[in-house]
Amino acid sequence: MRAEILRSPIKIAGFEVFKGHLDGPAQTKMVAELREVARVAPMRHPVTRFGKQMSVQMTSAGRVGWISDAGGYRYEPRHPDGMQWPPIPAGILDVWRTLTGIERTPDCCLINFYGEGARMGLHQDNDEGDFAYPVVSLSLGDDGLFRMGGTERGGKTQSLWLSSGDVVVMGGAARLAYHGVDRIRFGSSSVLPDGGRINVTLRVVSH
Ligand code: SIN
Ligand code: MN
Repeated sequence: MRAEILRSPIKIAGFEVFKGHLDGPAQTKMVAELREVARVAPMRHPVTRFGKQMSVQMTSAGRVGWISDAGGYRYEPRHPDGMQWPPIPAGILDVWRTLTGIERTPDCCLINFYGEGARMGLHQDNDEGDFAYPVVSLSLGDDGLFRMGGTERGGKTQSLWLSSGDVVVMGGAARLAYHGVDRIRFGSSSVLPDGGRINVTLRVVSH
């Protein structure tokens, strides 16, 4: 079923990139759903354990949300302001099911917002309890230069511009691969009228 309806992804170092997976109306609908999540659970600039403010703003939906503060990186069942994280929007769960074929619902939908000049350094997604499940990553809004490496810090990397509607699946060998966003092309898309880029990642956090 999956194979018939899906265009084959570009494969780069184990990362599967589905270019243009979401069409314009689907992107607009998803942005509206994400705005609603951010209304209930406001975006914040997380601070690393070393006290440095991250340039991206974040919030989450789902059973748990990813947070970073003086206590380090971790998943928490509540937003730092005390509310529960809103449910993961249905359209986002559809992308997970379509691309992975996995029935299990992800525990966390982390939502990153990149304003002008925001970036994300190379890192591994390794705060989850089970690396057998892939991470699914959706891009909306401005183009972002996505850098992909291997599982060792300091290894060779390759870069690709991700555009609004693109989806990346990080599974198998790429599940623990280093990745990051060097820069965005602020104002390159009209999907977010005030510019900026949204990235959504879906993760299974516990068994
Ligand atoms: C992330 O690794 O959490 C974000 C990746 C991206 O913004 O494309
Ligand atoms: Mn990541």
